[in-house]
Amino acid sequence: MEAPTNPLIDFLVGVVWLLLQTDPSIIPEYSIVFNSSEVLDQFFVTITDMEVTPGLYDVLCATTAPTLDFFKDLPSPRSYHWGVYIIVMEKLYCGSATSARGIKKRFTQYESSMALPSNVQKSLDEGYSTTHKGVLLRIPLPDPVNTPEYRMLILALEALFSFVFWTMVDKPSNYGLLHMRGWGHMDYEGLCTHTCPYEGHGLVGLPLTTEQRVVKAVRQKEHVKEYDRFRHHQLWVNDREKYNETRRKAYWKIVSTTEGRSRLNQARMTYYYKAKADDVEEKSGLRG
Ligand SMILES: *[C@@H]1O[C@H](CO)[C@@H](O)[C@H](O)[C@H]1NC(C)=O
Ligand SMILES: *[C@@H]1O[C@H](CO)[C@@H](O)[C@H](O)[C@H]1NC(C)=O
Repeated sequence: MEAPTNPLIDFLVGVVWLLLQTDPSIIPEYSIVFNSSEVLDQFFVTITDMEVTPGLYDVLCATTAPTLDFFKDLPSPRSYHWGVYIIVMEKLYCGSATSARGIKKRFTQYESSMALPSNVQKSLDEGYSTTHKGVLLRIPLPDPVNTPEYRMLILALEALFSFVFWTMVDKPSNYGLLHMRGWGHMDYEGLCTHTCPYEGHGLVGLPLTTEQRVVKAVRQKEHVKEYDRFRHHQLWVNDREKYNETRRKAYWKIVSTTEGRSRLNQARMTYYYKAKADDVEEKSGLRG
């Protein structure tokens, strides 16, 4: 393992920043803690003992996608380190370890088939075997004071590598993040169905100021709405039949209650009167 060079750090900061800006499903805490690319950059400056797998920058900058050989050569973990790792089973899984026990202990769980990610378990059941487990990047366990923020950084880096190396299961929506994929084609199949920044777990103890908490509450609401809109749109684009069915179900759910029917009528009335008002405006030349 080696210290990350400045160009690599610039790359990681830039791409994590892009991810935070464009991931439709990322939870609000990330944009609160990493509120500018300078802040992100500062995190890398404060972690003086980060190590990455040799040649990572060249791999990321190469015009062709890395092959399985690159992943099969990834170095082993060390005790009491956090980091982002790859599981090679001819398919690829990208994960991270940010618990008090660190990445090496996490690997022993893989060895005894404990708490495996669902698709890793499924692949084992299908007869695939793990041919290599290696580390892309690691940092020593952080000071407890910095745990939540450093955990967020590692999770964001896990997400970065999952999308850049596309260790994701292909989906019609492709998570709204196909622009993050580093190369047009990868010669392996991905096993990740989501990345950790979707989940709030592990952010317990994140010290937010009162002001940040207010921002978080507002963003959380927007976030849910935005994500719903995104999923709705994906469904509309990719599976019109299912989209229609969802709409039909939602409609029947509304009209099956008195309150719902009355709300629907109200909405229709509003629409009707608005259309009428528009019509009158237009006819009387009030418009334009
Ligand atoms: C980012 O957050 C820090 C710490 O809460 C704050 O001091 C800074 O003004 C924020 N920057 C932006 C661009 O919002
Ligand atoms: C979905 O509904 C739209 C509008 O009602 C209809 O035109 C379309 O054919 C439907 N598509 C499918 C696949 O059911």
